[in-house]
Amino acid sequence: MRKILVIHGPNLNMLGSREPQVYGSETLNDIDRNINERARGYDLSVETFQSNSEGDLVDKIQKSINETSLIIINPAAYTHTSVAIRDALLATSIPAIEVHLSNIHKREDFRKKSLVSDIVVGHISGFGPFGYLMAVDAAADYMKGGR
Ligand code: DQA
Repeated sequence: MRKILVIHGPNLNMLGSREPQVYGSETLNDIDRNINERARGYDLSVETFQSNSEGDLVDKIQKSINETSLIIINPAAYTHTSVAIRDALLATSIPAIEVHLSNIHKREDFRKKSLVSDIVVGHISGFGPFGYLMAVDAAADYMKGGR
C-alpha cells in the first residue's frame, strides 16, 4: 500500500481556536480524521505529523525518504522563511503538494512568498480544510501517473 505523509507546521496544532475568522473552526484532529477517510478511498495509508519546530520538520522529511511516496505539507509560517524545509524536500526528492488553509496571496505581503512553491508538484491555497482533501485527490491522481 502506498503511503503519504501529511506534515503540519507551527501553530496548526491550535486550529479550532486560532484566528477562526482566517483558519475556520475545524481542529487539526478533525482535519487529520477527514484526510485519513479520504485516503482510505484510494487505498493509501497516511501518517500525519505536526511540529512547531523547524528542525523536527526537517528531520521528519529526511526520515521519510524510504517509506513515503508523497508528502502533503502545510509549512505554515515556515513557508515564508525556511530554506531548511525547502532543502529537505529537495534532498529527498519525494514529490510534495503544498497546502494552505488561507489564500496566502490575499494576505499580508510577507505571506505572498513561499519558499517551496516552485519545487512542489502543485499547491492549494484558500479552500480551508477542504484543501487537504483536494490534496489527497491530487496525490492519488499524481501517483497513478495521471498528471
Ligand atoms: C498558513 C498561512 C501561513 O502564512 C501562516 O503562517 C499559517 C497558516 C495557512 O494554512 O493558511 O500558519 O500556512
